[in-house]
Amino acid sequence: MLSKQMEAALNDQLNKEIYSAYLYMSMSAYSTHIGLKGFANWFMVQYQEEMIHAMKFYDYINDLGRQVKLMAIDAPPIEFESPLNMFEKTLKHEQFVTKRINNLVDLAIKEKDHATNIFLQWFVTEQVEEEANDNDIIAKLKLVGKKGDALLMLDRELAARVFTPTPASQPA
Ligand code: FEO
Repeated sequence: MLSKQMEAALNDQLNKEIYSAYLYMSMSAYSTHIGLKGFANWFMVQYQEEMIHAMKFYDYINDLGRQVKLMAIDAPPIEFESPLNMFEKTLKHEQFVTKRINNLVDLAIKEKDHATNIFLQWFVTEQVEEEANDNDIIAKLKLVGKKGDALLMLDRELAARVFTPTPASQPA
């Protein structure tokens, strides 16, 4: 049984996942604009992953017989200082999402909503991976510094990232 408060919180997180997708699509567009097609690819894969996250919330709310309520999506930033700045913003955003997921788990525990708690565990694990990926790329970008050839090598590495679709309602 989903409480009204939990239902609203899940709808809100669905909105935030779509904002995440929108943010990374904006970073992809910016990367393309400055000639970093590998970075653009990495962020477009991230966009696709975020849409899967959003759909997990969408399906879960539907599965419990409630109505998904879509809200306005905030506009993302469109300019970034550097590739490093983009990934620092990405990490900061993911830390914000992690906090939100943890708050949802806290609410599920408080309400003894075991089903929602289990549903959210996938996201708890996913957030560890997301932050680890961002930290890894930030470390590489700090090593790259202002070296253009090293940046292009990293761009080639990020070009190799592939989106692996998994059904939204199943664990990835
Ligand atoms: Fe949906 Fe990047 O967390």
